[in-house]
Amino acid sequence: MNAKHILVLYAHPAPHRSPVNRRLADAARATPGVVVQDLYDTYPDFDIDAENERALVRDASLLVFLHPIRWYGMPSLMKEWMDVVMVPGWAYGTPDSVLRGKGYWLVATTGSGAEAYQPGGLHGRPFADFLAPFEQTAALCGMDWIAPLTMHGAAAAGEAAVDAHIAEFRRRLLAYTEAAHGE
Ligand SMILES: Cc1cc2nc3c(=O)[nH]c(=O)nc-3n(C[C@H](O)[C@H](O)[C@H](O)COP(=O)(O)O)c2cc1C
Repeated sequence: MNAKHILVLYAHPAPHRSPVNRRLADAARATPGVVVQDLYDTYPDFDIDAENERALVRDASLLVFLHPIRWYGMPSLMKEWMDVVMVPGWAYGTPDSVLRGKGYWLVATTGSGAEAYQPGGLHGRPFADFLAPFEQTAALCGMDWIAPLTMHGAAAAGEAAVDAHIAEFRRRLLAYTEAAHGE
């Protein structure tokens, strides 16, 4: 493992029914310098080994949270991961807490199209409004918030749109990998 790897925390409750996130995870696995931790595969019973996860995080320069949006938030195992891994003192609250200075990159998909995320639309407000807890988590932990990569309408996206999204993810991931190795 590289001293400064990028850690992708992949959380999909039904990966066999995931046309987009599964391909994003595969693209990450194929990128040198990237470690993919598949949470639902590793912890099907939700019994997370917090020490193991903290060791993975410790040597990472960037954490990528890769998952579909579920009920305006993260899948339940992703939330459980945060609850048991990101404890006070380790994650935040001390000058040398471990997450300080690491990047926080959310890579998420939604089922609804972009038009649903606006006033008067199905979800009533811009998608960015739903990201406030994510962004504030990064801020609390002293992490660098990186502009999220979101694919709206993922459930019904055509092949060309998915291909373009995977290419954009790969491009940004490679750029962050090169930046991490230059540190
Ligand atoms: C339990 C559940 C909750 C969901 N909640 C939302 C939601 O709040 N907003 C939304 O746009 N899509 C929602 N979706 C749709 C998923 O986000 C969508 O199917 C997924 O992003 C598609 O990516 P995938 O093809 O990789 O699975 C939900 C789906 C399920 C099963």
